[in-house]
Amino acid sequence: LEGNRLFVEKEFNNNLDYYRDIAHAQHPQVLWIGCSDSRVPEDMITGSRPGTIFVHRNVANIVAFNDVNIAAIVEYAVAHLKIPDIVICGHYNCGGIQALDEGVEENYIADWLLISGGAKEKVDRIAMEQSLSRMQRLNLLAEENVRLQIKHLKNLSLVKNMHRKGDLPCIHGWIYDMDSGRLKVLIDGRTER
Ligand code: CO
Repeated sequence: LEGNRLFVEKEFNNNLDYYRDIAHAQHPQVLWIGCSDSRVPEDMITGSRPGTIFVHRNVANIVAFNDVNIAAIVEYAVAHLKIPDIVICGHYNCGGIQALDEGVEENYIADWLLISGGAKEKVDRIAMEQSLSRMQRLNLLAEENVRLQIKHLKNLSLVKNMHRKGDLPCIHGWIYDMDSGRLKVLIDGRTER
């Protein structure tokens, strides 16, 4: 609440026109699908203001086929808000990715991470062939998980049908490195459809 008081004083009250404008309607240009991790706040790491990013975050930035929650968000984003770009952003040091790699006791988390099983199988194979260190394996798994979720997103009927007609959205794959604060582009959605 103290943080909100400062926000009103320093940011909101100094930009009243902007905040009155977006109070009437939002026109975000990006749908962000990221991890729930508290260390990856999409607005802060991209320097974005309220009104610019439509957001869905869950454990390990997963796009599930049978998840009405994410389907409704994607539908609202592309069909109603006409958002042209979707970013799936993973991150290194992800607890979800570590749990995917090592397995967990918690039932719901284990079930949720099953959706990323394909990425783990692929990385296990590569890690064996190239004798990767644990950190290299986990970093690769975070990246392969983003690639897999992009595949899932492109296979949702809603997105597939739009792409068939040559319509947007562009789908981008990024990774956030919390050691440097930098975002890395894995897949540039403008060139890879
Ligand atoms: Co995470």
